[in-house]
Amino acid sequence: MDIQTVVTQPFEGQKPGTSGLRKKVDVFQQPHYVANFVQAIVDALPADQRRRLVVGGDGRYFNAEAIQTILKLLVGNGVAEVLVGAGGILSTPAVSNLIRQSKADGGIVLSASHNPGGPGKDFGIKFNNASGSPAPESVTQAIYDNTKSINEYRLANLPELELTAGKEYSFNNTTIRVVDSVDDYAQLMQTLFDFDQISAAIKSGSLSLCFDGMHAVTGPYARKIFGDLLGVQKDLLWNCEALTDFGGGHPDPNRVYAKSLYDFMMGSEATDLGAASDGDGDRNMIMGRGAFVSPSDSLALIAQHHQSIPQFKSGLVGVARSMPTSTALDRVAQHLNISCYETPTGWKFFGNLLDEGLVRLCGEESFGTSGDHVREKDGVWTVLCWLSILADKKVSARELLAQHWTSFGRSYYCRHDYDGLEADKAQTIMDQLAGSEGKLVGRRIGPMSVAEVNVFRYEDPVDGSVAENQGVRVIFDDQSRVVFRLSGTGTDSATLRVYLEQIERDAKNQGADAIEYNEALGKFANEIAQIQSITGLTEPTVKT
Ligand code: G1P
Ligand code: ZN
Repeated sequence: MDIQTVVTQPFEGQKPGTSGLRKKVDVFQQPHYVANFVQAIVDALPADQRRRLVVGGDGRYFNAEAIQTILKLLVGNGVAEVLVGAGGILSTPAVSNLIRQSKADGGIVLSASHNPGGPGKDFGIKFNNASGSPAPESVTQAIYDNTKSINEYRLANLPELELTAGKEYSFNNTTIRVVDSVDDYAQLMQTLFDFDQISAAIKSGSLSLCFDGMHAVTGPYARKIFGDLLGVQKDLLWNCEALTDFGGGHPDPNRVYAKSLYDFMMGSEATDLGAASDGDGDRNMIMGRGAFVSPSDSLALIAQHHQSIPQFKSGLVGVARSMPTSTALDRVAQHLNISCYETPTGWKFFGNLLDEGLVRLCGEESFGTSGDHVREKDGVWTVLCWLSILADKKVSARELLAQHWTSFGRSYYCRHDYDGLEADKAQTIMDQLAGSEGKLVGRRIGPMSVAEVNVFRYEDPVDGSVAENQGVRVIFDDQSRVVFRLSGTGTDSATLRVYLEQIERDAKNQGADAIEYNEALGKFANEIAQIQSITGLTEPTVKT
């Protein structure tokens, strides 16, 4: 097999963000673009860590072509073994699992997560390390540095490979094995949950689930796990046919983009649990009959009821949340007498805590939750946690939420996103906020007054690495908060995220709608950040 050394030049801006390199797909479609970036990944790996790599993606437009290029490149670089998902498809948590199960040196994930797919839409490439975790900053920085100096890559002249499960190819020093996209992951889930208990509840009619796959990668996983193994009827597994453009939709499971599921769960035909997952299967939205469970509350309730989940029967040890995620988890952790870590936004920051066994459950407000079974957030797993809790407690999700709020207080939580900002204006907003403590302390809104303003800085307790400038926190005297940060996953203009949290301890006032409850605080946030005066925007683009 011929190995060609292809002469190339660096592309500007191949800098991984919150979750890998994300760009418009046309950018990735330029000649050399994918090969340059993947060569930069390989070059960042020490020579003895190129033995076995996993490759798979969420199946979006350009996934199939990119996979073929990556295989040529990995053979060209003499990687001994490559495990690739059938059809080039693996959900993000399934890649993480496969890396761990096969003791691989890492994996390459093709996805732009919840961003739309199709011509002119988004694409992405991310590297995960040997523990299955998105690469830490030290590695992404090394990859980025390589992209700036690259002048050649090594490509094997492979024919187009048919990626059917069970196929095996040998070229030079490399074996390529095509694995079933779902099987290993489904087996893992069966070791973590009591499938007999859940399926008995479903078959007896005492527990029902409606799942929306949003025409994304989770569809085949849902059909196998919820349908074949747990007995959920086909007509309650919506949009489970994976499509390269996600059916033209925006595969982000929230109240806006999973609106049909939201409306169904608020209506008279609702099932006990409603759930949806995103483009690459790591996010989840959870609803009970007539009740939206905010991701921050979902995380706190999973912690509270962890004894209903076989994986956590031996205890949680510790938990973690990203900084903007609500503090509901902290109050449960305090009650359980376990540690609660606060990390910057992005799943990679949980990796060390999980690897060291300091935490077993983590989550983000952006519809992400997972445990220590993989090193990615995990949508299907979260649904199984909720099915376990409902099957065990035999109480509705709505009632569980009410009980939780009565015991721990309710964090009324929502996020305002201001999209389409010019990058320099977005930066001006952040800069002036960072220096605004003197001006803001003591300012009142309703009964609350600003107690502190600070810029979040994180020192990793395991390796001591430091992440600066991870958002500005405005903290009130009753622990309510407004957090500001810039998105690191966008593919064109800047997005300012404003996270609003008010803690209501009086059970009589805990039944309001979180978005409405936070309206006044949202206006206050707009004013103190000078969003209107700098950008002209009086209202956010999206409220979730
Ligand atoms: C967003 C979310 C963050 C999540 C990431 C990847 O990043 O806010 O919690 O980890 O997507 O799914 P952001 O665009 O805010 O940088
Ligand atoms: Zn995702």
